[in-house]
Amino acid sequence: IKRVTTHVIQEMKTRGEKISCLTAYDYSMAGIVDAAGVELILVGDSASNVMAGHETTLPITIDQMIYHAASVVRAVKRALVVVDLPFGSYQGNSREALNSAIRIMKESGAHAVKLEGGLEIRDSITRILSAGVPVMGHLGLTPQSIYKFGTYTVRAKQEAEAQKLLEDARMLEEVGCFSVVLEKIPSSLTKQVSESIQIPTVGIGAGPHADGQILVLHDLLGINKEFKPRFLRRYADLNGVMTDAISNYIKDVKAKSFPNEKESY
Ligand code: KIV
Ligand code: NA
Repeated sequence: IKRVTTHVIQEMKTRGEKISCLTAYDYSMAGIVDAAGVELILVGDSASNVMAGHETTLPITIDQMIYHAASVVRAVKRALVVVDLPFGSYQGNSREALNSAIRIMKESGAHAVKLEGGLEIRDSITRILSAGVPVMGHLGLTPQSIYKFGTYTVRAKQEAEAQKLLEDARMLEEVGCFSVVLEKIPSSLTKQVSESIQIPTVGIGAGPHADGQILVLHDLLGINKEFKPRFLRRYADLNGVMTDAISNYIKDVKAKSFPNEKESY
């Protein structure tokens, strides 16, 4: 199998082929996602919500991210594996950011890292890039800043914030990021950004004009019943499928029909 590299992702934009991306956090799921054929797998700090049950992405640690990332890397044969630098591991100074990125690359075997923010973290991004580590940017709704924003609503609806986002995107391209996530911004702004930069944009809740799309795997699969933002399309009801399977198991145990003779030694 030919591996997807940052160059492959770039060529897809040039050709006009959309880039499919999903999150994964563990070996079993990552193997399924990779075999299905997505180009990019993000080990997102959404693991803090989806895997650990925290309300925000802030509590997850770099050691926990490395555990998830290493598990994913062991399963993936083709996709590009990108790992989120967690909150607190890169904002302080560029030396700390570089150390965090190096730890993730060495200890997990991943292929790239993602950082949230624009101008504020330019030095950190530049330093990581100069060590030869590919960086993905992330603009718009950046969940590590949720206590600054106050809500998870759409970002950059006002002209000033939209202008700053466009400038940040241009800066990310200029310093050498290979791609940038655009989260929960107006479709028209996604179009403008995607046409203004050569590197591929990957959208979530950012409309159809991004060069690629990403969703949280558990949301797409319908594992989590309560989370229903308008940008989410559910492709399965795994919550229902799993609940039925487990209910049937319970019934069989109670009825003493599991295990049967063939299932016993
Ligand atoms: O952590 C995450 O899952 C993400 C994506 C939603 C872009 O950052
Ligand atoms: Na994230």
